[in-house]
Amino acid sequence: MENISLHPDTIEEVKEKVDLVEVVSDYVVLQKKGRDFVGLCPFHDEKTPSFTVNQSKQLYYCFGCGAGGGAIKFLMEIGKQSFRDVIFNLAQRYQIPIKTLALQDQQAIQQQISLRDQLYEILAVASSFYQHSLQQKEGEKALNYLLLDRHLTLENINKFQLGYAPDGWQTLYNYLVEIKHYPVMLVEQAGLIKKKVKGEGYIDYFRDRLMIPIQDVQGKIIAFGARSLDGSEPKYLNSPETNLFSKSKTLFALNFANKSIIKQNKVIVVEGYFDAIALHLFGIENVVAVLGTALTEQHIKQLSRYTESKEIIVNFDADKAGLKATERAIKEVENLVYSGQLKLKILTIPNGKDADEFIRSSPESRETYQELIEKAPLWLDWQIEQIINSRDLFNSAEYESAFQSIVRLINKISNNATKDFYLSHCAEILSNKKNQYSFNSADLQKIYQSLMSATKYGNKTNKKSFFKQGKSAQKNQVEQAEFLLLLIYLHCPDYRETIMDELDNKDLVFTLKSTRFLWQKIHQTSASITNDNQQNSLLTTVQENMINYPDFAKQLTHLFNLSENDEQVLYQPEQIIRGSIACLETVKLDKYKQYCQQKLTELDQTKDLTNMTFYYQELRATQAQLKQLESLRMNKE
Ligand code: UTP
Ligand code: MN
Repeated sequence: MENISLHPDTIEEVKEKVDLVEVVSDYVVLQKKGRDFVGLCPFHDEKTPSFTVNQSKQLYYCFGCGAGGGAIKFLMEIGKQSFRDVIFNLAQRYQIPIKTLALQDQQAIQQQISLRDQLYEILAVASSFYQHSLQQKEGEKALNYLLLDRHLTLENINKFQLGYAPDGWQTLYNYLVEIKHYPVMLVEQAGLIKKKVKGEGYIDYFRDRLMIPIQDVQGKIIAFGARSLDGSEPKYLNSPETNLFSKSKTLFALNFANKSIIKQNKVIVVEGYFDAIALHLFGIENVVAVLGTALTEQHIKQLSRYTESKEIIVNFDADKAGLKATERAIKEVENLVYSGQLKLKILTIPNGKDADEFIRSSPESRETYQELIEKAPLWLDWQIEQIINSRDLFNSAEYESAFQSIVRLINKISNNATKDFYLSHCAEILSNKKNQYSFNSADLQKIYQSLMSATKYGNKTNKKSFFKQGKSAQKNQVEQAEFLLLLIYLHCPDYRETIMDELDNKDLVFTLKSTRFLWQKIHQTSASITNDNQQNSLLTTVQENMINYPDFAKQLTHLFNLSENDEQVLYQPEQIIRGSIACLETVKLDKYKQYCQQKLTELDQTKDLTNMTFYYQELRATQAQLKQLESLRMNKE
């Protein structure tokens, strides 16, 4: 085994799947603190935790001893293992098939690595050549375009390393091949020259164009985008796909944006190079651009590394092409957005401007743009808006088609609280648009009911299995939540007041026979204890008291005799309390929601409109609360 190298695919897959928090947790008890996790450093002796783990960056760092790195380095150091062994073990742990390399493959890979390095070098030299040309007489037109038409400064131009490809057939070719002696094959593979269609030899790929280098996250140039200056087509020409460059995996300006994305915890994706450049120059730096393609799942994966919130705001042009591209972007990442793994928001700038034009349009634009970003609707709201706005709802055929489109949208939502919310939200929008001048409550109820029954939700068989399945899962959750609250109450006197207050304020009660019984006993015992010292003996007093009730005592025994697992819970009582309370609250609201829904289907809308409106409003309010709770719980995870 010793001489066999692991296949790079295996290494990549391991790196992708491994989770630092999970890995570290095998060795260190971690507690969440703000965005990071902290714990006692395993690499040196300490009493207060200075070892931090950042999950979104997948990096650890110890403020005490300076140890730091990623998951693989952590395992290498803590287990004194080789890179290969760590990858090997992780592959087994995450059930990743282990592929190895034969000797000739190993050599081929070595060659690949050195090929890539040479391509980087050629592209960097080409970029200096273009930058230099921009400052020469031949580049005057391009330079003026940047300074006067685009309102950039020389400093801006330098930051983005903008350049000019001269108007000749072989200017770059001559420079790289004749003067610098780079092999023709490599220059071709870098995408800078191409074979003549007729006859022998090569010509430059980019001629008489403004050159925009495309860099990878580390700032290495991997390709170019090139704009024509005289209106010739195509307006933008990108490097061909090469060993280093794939459009669907690359985002322009990510190297300038990544720090800001981490800091802001969200990222804005625009359509054009100059949109990104302009926003960066106006100090909005969490911005990247796609390269004339849709936003792909690969893009999203890359961006998710920098945002814990997974918030991505797509700001494409407001023209037809832009709207289409937005639709395509949503479709592309549909699975991620419907399951809530991605918080996708859509911003279309009013009046059809693109970000570049908008940000330059007035002195207040920077601020307005930021407001627009803050207010950008979630993709689902945006899509609903598109469906409604593109149709005349007074026309019955168009109304029907809008209705069906909305049903399709809602049906794809997997989270029930969200689904409920949109059900009534859409009913409202549809009825508002239909009755522009007056609120017609009867219409609203009718639309709500038909939406309910048109979506799978209203479908009887589905509903049944959903409730069934929901019930047993819910019961487990409730059991767990009530159990945890009692556990903390008994063992952490400092948190007793919090738990009591939370239950009181939210009007929650213990629902299981055994937990309710214990809660009663706790109250009785507390009432008979008068001084603080005795508070600490609550646990033993209650436990002794339980001897008289052997049935309950048996069910509740692990509340008193802690397992190792339970002890872990006590390290982060605040979080657990919040989570458990939210769970109980959700269950309670859920029950009320179902009750309201039941009422709405039973009531006769011709006779009992007042009651229907009442339950409808109750339902709306409950759903909004549930949705809020859900997002709270999601943010926790
Ligand atoms: P736009 O045509 O909207 O460009 O294309 P823009 O950014 O507003 O251009 P300016 O402001 O006139 O310079 C947006 C993006 O689509 C890709 C490019 O990446 C461009 O930035 N595109 C556009 C192409 O790849 N090829 C084209 O011919 C046009
Ligand atoms: Mn533009």
